[in-house]
Formats: sequence, C-alpha cells, structure tokens
Amino acid sequence: MQTDVCIIGAGPAGLISAALLAQAGIETIIVEHRARDYVLQRVRAGVLEQSTVETLRHLGAASRLDREGLVHEGFVLAFGETTVRIAFPDLVPGRHVTVYGQTEVVRDLVAHREAAGLPLLFETEAVAIENLDGSPRVVCRRAGETVLVSCRLVFGCDGFHGLARRALPPEAIKTSEIAYPFGWLGVLADVPPAHEELVYAASDRGFALCSMRSSTRSRYYIQVPAGERLEDWPEERFWAELRRRLPAEIAARVREGPAIERSIAPLRSFVAEPMRIAHLLLLGDAAHVVPPTGAKGLNLAAADAWYAARAAIKFLRAGDEAALDAYSATALTRVWRTERFSWMMTKLMHTFPDLTPFEAKMQDAERSYVAASHAARTVIAENYVGLPLD
Ligand code: APR
Ligand code: PHB
Repeated sequence: MQTDVCIIGAGPAGLISAALLAQAGIETIIVEHRARDYVLQRVRAGVLEQSTVETLRHLGAASRLDREGLVHEGFVLAFGETTVRIAFPDLVPGRHVTVYGQTEVVRDLVAHREAAGLPLLFETEAVAIENLDGSPRVVCRRAGETVLVSCRLVFGCDGFHGLARRALPPEAIKTSEIAYPFGWLGVLADVPPAHEELVYAASDRGFALCSMRSSTRSRYYIQVPAGERLEDWPEERFWAELRRRLPAEIAARVREGPAIERSIAPLRSFVAEPMRIAHLLLLGDAAHVVPPTGAKGLNLAAADAWYAARAAIKFLRAGDEAALDAYSATALTRVWRTERFSWMMTKLMHTFPDLTPFEAKMQDAERSYVAASHAARTVIAENYVGLPLD
C-alpha cells in the first residue's frame, strides 16, 4: 500500500492528526493493532480543554460533543474537610473545560473517518519501520499476513507501549522519567455523580477523585499503592474507601452501583525527546506520559496532532523541511509545561509513602497557600483549562 502519511495507532493522537491531514487533502492510512470493538469501548480520561474542543469542531466531528458534553466552570480541591473551589469565571474569565469521555471522542472520530471512507485498518500491528531517512516503509502483521505501507512520513501515535519510539536507535532519543509509588484504581458506574463538579480530594488515607461522564454516569478513582491487584479491591471495599477519603458532605452523596469498568493504572511522568527523527514524528503517549491528576493526557495528544499535522502539511505540499524541524521544539514547549502542571498537581494531592518531615511540611504549606491565595488558584486554573495552542 502507498500513502502520504502512515499513522500507527488509532487513539486520539492518531485519529485527530489523520482527520486534520485528510481535511488538507493529504492521504493517510491508519494501522491499529487492536480490534475495532476494543478501541471503541476502551475507558480512558474525560476532561477536554477548550482548544481540544475547538480542534474537534474545526474537523466537523463535534456535533455529539456539542450536544452531550458538560461545560464545567470550575472544580473542587478538597484537603480533608476543607474545600477550595477553582472557579474559572473568577480566575480565568471566559475559559472553561468540557467533560466528555475519551471513549466518546474516539467513537466520534472513528465514525467521522469511516463516513469519509478513509482507510483505518484494525487488527493490523506495525512490527517494523524501515528507511526512515528516505521514503519510509511500515511493516505490519494482519491476520498472519505481512502488509507493507510505503509513505513519505510516519506518525508514531501508538501510545507508551507502542513500536514507534522503540524502533528508534536508543542513542537518538533522550528520556526523562518519574515512576510514582502509586496508581489509580478507577470505577465507572451508572449512578448520578456525588457533586456537580469534579472533586480532587487529598486525605490522610490517600487521594480520591470524583469525576463523571454524564448526569447519570460517574467515574471515581482512588490512589492505591503501586503493584496493587484488582482482586484485592472487591467493590464494597472500593466504595467504603472512596467515602472515607472525601469531605463528609460529599461522601454522604456518593451513590453506589455495579461497576461497568474497573482498572488500575500506574502513574508516570515521561518525556522522550526529540519528538521527530528524520521522517518519523512521535505524537501523544508515544512521546510523553503525564500522571492523570491534571487531566492532560488526551489534551496533549490533541495538541501534538495539531502541531504535527501543520508541520506535515507544509512539508508535503511545499517540501518545507524547516516546518518539520520545528515540530519537536514547538510540541515540547507545551509538553514540558504540561508535565510540570501534572507533576505539581500529583505532588499536591497525593499521599507519598516516603516524604521526609520537611517535605511533608512543604506539602501542607502548598495546600494552605492554594486555599489562601487567589494567585495560586489562578495558576491552577490557567493550566487546567489549557495553555494556548499557537
Ligand atoms: N501497531 C499498531 N497500533 C498500535 C501498536 C502497533 N505496534 N502499538 C500500539 N498501538 C495502538 C494501541 O492499540 C492504541 O489504540 O496505538 C494506540 C495508542 O492510543 P492511545 O494509547 O490512546 O495513545 P494516544 O493517542 O497518544 O492518546 C493519549 O490516551 O493513554 C491515554 O491517557 C492517555 O489520554 C491519553 C491518551
Ligand atoms: C476522568 O473522568 O476519567 C478523569 C477526570 C479528571 C482527571 C482524570 C480522569 O484528572
């Protein structure tokens, strides 16, 4: 097969970049290792920055998002029984976020691509990338057969565990990483949310988050030690622990229901740079991972897609090598700022098993400063609604 851009992975990074390229008249083939049903059902994050919403609107893929997405004008930080509202109209006037599941974003984009009749090959795993310095070729396995995709550029949108980053010579990439000593146990249930806004709660027992997908579907998380197994968390234990970590008034409003989905995700901060080597561009989780505390993973993937598509369009239309060169630095500026915010929020809200007494005091001081200072809350609000996409 032959195309302009071979896109590996049909997550948000792959689907958004493919749609942006298609809109500019550039040919793309997406290869996705997993089956269609799996990709459409996978439960992930749920908070969209305004620039992500605008990108989806620009693509004409936002009609359901505009109908069903919940506009949120703030969220709540809880420190024990003390609650602090991050109120966007006051702190970052005119800005907000939209609560809409990544699962729904992926569904809308797959529908959008299939309606246009553009190639999206499920159950097709990229196993090698050849000739990156010239005209690349992506070698794929599909139902025991080899499929070869020849192209001019490769977009590696295949997530943290994908092939693209690892296909590069190790000396070409510098990685920076922190593994946190905990993960998040998430539960999705068809019960009304405990609170009308998201609640990020720090308690002596660890962090908890009340999120939602709609007025009838809630998404809850609790911090659990790294390596914890799902079997050790029967549903009753989860609900009891969640309530104990929330302010009493919010805990009293938690409605329990059978889990539609349960999973444990490790928390990690990770960046690989540069994000372009020759004719391969890395996007989304393939290049960087943020802990979910800032709700940034999906939004960073969308920002990369925007920058990568812009660079590829200039390169493919006009041979503009400088545009391709600029991709990595442009994307990484936003990536590092977003890494900083996600790391800061993670450190602010979680219980760390091995803090020195001094570090524990610093965490207390940071929390009381956020509660007391309009400027500190503005920093959080500005980052949470999303940095500019320029
Ligand atoms: N060949 C083809 N597809 C692959 C391969 C491969 N070798 N390896 C991985 N994939 C696919 C995965 O099956 C997955 O569908 O690449 C896709 C990567 O998608 P995501 O993991 O959703 O990554 P990304 O698009 O960067 O989106 C980042 O997703 O992980 C969340 O929290 C994260 O919200 C963030 C967002
Ligand atoms: C979610 O709803 O899944 C969610 C919301 C906010 C976060 C992380 C996850 O910070």
